[in-house]
Amino acid sequence: MKYENNLDQNEFYFEGFKTFKVSKLTDQINSFLFNCNSIDIKSDDDWIERYEKTFDLKLEKILANSIFINFILENKIFEKLEELTGFQYHIGDIVVRKTFSKKSYMPWHRDTYFYKKNAVGRTPPLIKLIYYPSFDSEKRIQLKIKRGSHLFFLKNKFIDKLINLIKPVKNIFASNNQVLLFNSALYHSVMPPSEKGEFRVIFNFCSVNQLNQFKNSKKISSALHH
Ligand SMILES: [Fe+2]
Repeated sequence: MKYENNLDQNEFYFEGFKTFKVSKLTDQINSFLFNCNSIDIKSDDDWIERYEKTFDLKLEKILANSIFINFILENKIFEKLEELTGFQYHIGDIVVRKTFSKKSYMPWHRDTYFYKKNAVGRTPPLIKLIYYPSFDSEKRIQLKIKRGSHLFFLKNKFIDKLINLIKPVKNIFASNNQVLLFNSALYHSVMPPSEKGEFRVIFNFCSVNQLNQFKNSKKISSALHH
């Protein structure tokens, strides 16, 4: 039978990422994050040091404010995900993070990979949506990625790294009206922030039968269906 392939699905499948415009609630997220700067995040109990000099806001505090859930709903992210991937996704986790680390807290890596006869990380890989707010006019690179690398991997860690390092880099910049969606098996590298530190909001999407791998997914789904 003849069929027409969906071009957006083609692109997301082969490239492994997509940046797209979001128009709703970014200003509210920005003011929420901006207000977080009025406390000392490094010593506040609501912020947990997840990596060196990199702090995550407690989920209760994220869900106490409906803007993060509304951001997903009002920008029709679930619909967009289905459009781009062909599948239905669910939110496993939401992370509001500020990093002050002068060196990357996560240099070149994949979240899901297969080295030394073992799969590491979640399968199928999570799809991540990241919003990098921009509080000044400086356009900073937040993440580097290697397009298509989720479909091209080697089972030897060092050769996998070597081959991917020589491939061209795609830079992802902070933006108040754009988000990044990507397959987390893609080779990616977190860039260190400016002097003041930088925020990011990360939504981890998974399939329905992966929800039980996230300890907070029930809290998130009840916030979604409230
Ligand atoms: Fe990662």
